[in-house]
Amino acid sequence: MIPFNAPPVVGNELEYMQSAMASGKLCGDGGFTRLCQQWMEQRFGSKKVLLTPSCTASLEMAALLIDIQPGDEVIMPSYTFVSTANAFVLRGATIVFVDVRSDTLNQDESKIEAAITEKTRAIVPVHYAGVACEMDAIMALAKQYQLWVIEDAAQGMMSCYKGRALGTIGHIGCFSFHETKNYTAGGEGGATLINDAALVERAEIIREKGTNRSQFFRGQVDKYTWRDIGSSYLMADLQAACLWAQLEAAERINQQRLRLWQRYYDALQPLAAQGRITLPSLPAACEHNAHMFYIKLRDSDDRQALIDWMKEAEIMTAFHYIPLHSSPAGEQFGRFHGEDRYTTVESERLLRLPLFYNLTDNNQKTVISSLLSFFA
Ligand SMILES: Cc1ncc(COP(=O)(O)O)c(C=O)c1O
Repeated sequence: MIPFNAPPVVGNELEYMQSAMASGKLCGDGGFTRLCQQWMEQRFGSKKVLLTPSCTASLEMAALLIDIQPGDEVIMPSYTFVSTANAFVLRGATIVFVDVRSDTLNQDESKIEAAITEKTRAIVPVHYAGVACEMDAIMALAKQYQLWVIEDAAQGMMSCYKGRALGTIGHIGCFSFHETKNYTAGGEGGATLINDAALVERAEIIREKGTNRSQFFRGQVDKYTWRDIGSSYLMADLQAACLWAQLEAAERINQQRLRLWQRYYDALQPLAAQGRITLPSLPAACEHNAHMFYIKLRDSDDRQALIDWMKEAEIMTAFHYIPLHSSPAGEQFGRFHGEDRYTTVESERLLRLPLFYNLTDNNQKTVISSLLSFFA
């Protein structure tokens, strides 16, 4: 069976995890956490990067940091993972969904302004498949209406928009190191990128259960106390050790994924030219990280037929999000603004192919030939 995904493994993970075990410090903010955070701050240019247990936790931290209150509204696409919405619903917000663009499946930047009301507090762009949202337009709207921008860059580490790293353009960015992502912290993990210097001190406090323990550990205060609301949003250093092995190999992982992505693209181009499938499109402003390779079929029946065909050939493929606005919690906690022109139809015809760092050339060839034979 060729799996849809396998967590990336580069080889040094166990050595670094053993070293973390031997250090006698396994909790958060140990040596490996510092290495990972500094690497990301330097590479991406964020003011402060804080490792967290998950992107879900990072989004929750962001909602606390911008003080989301009951009745506030937050604008995001409906075509996203539940955590994008849940983080704000947990603070009492109403989610306002807007349609996606058919080319990238990212929130359509031209649909946002009409969804803004006097209750709107934030826009949450989700960089689907590691392909950038149209951030210039989103940041201009945020400035005009004084809104926060929280980038859900769960899939976006190592991608850029006009040369700027995803996750560093909004006021706050959130990465995921779940095992399905390009880099993993042993299965689960995340990072909060604080790009607005004014938020850094409070971000550290919220992450440390509402205390100024980070300042205490740096010797800036002689005892730490309860300062604010907060929770435990630290990643264990054992997990950071695993992540560090992958960050050291980040360029190699990225290049390999891009190679795999391009091979799919080139092999499937003739099918696209015949109008049998639609291939992903990459806006010129975006340098992507090959987080995923998807194709779009004519409709959900065609997609199911292909899923069954591939399964018969022992190849796992996967569709993706069920739009949030048509799910029970989405109906309860949100509303869709404007017309759902693309969200539902595009989500019903999208299919993801196996793409992971350790996918062998032979297995990729098998995926491609099975797919081509379906259309033959
Ligand atoms: C767009 C998006 N946001 C948030 C998340 C949540 O990430 P995590 O599993 O690290 O909490 C995911 C996970 O798949 C995601 O795809």
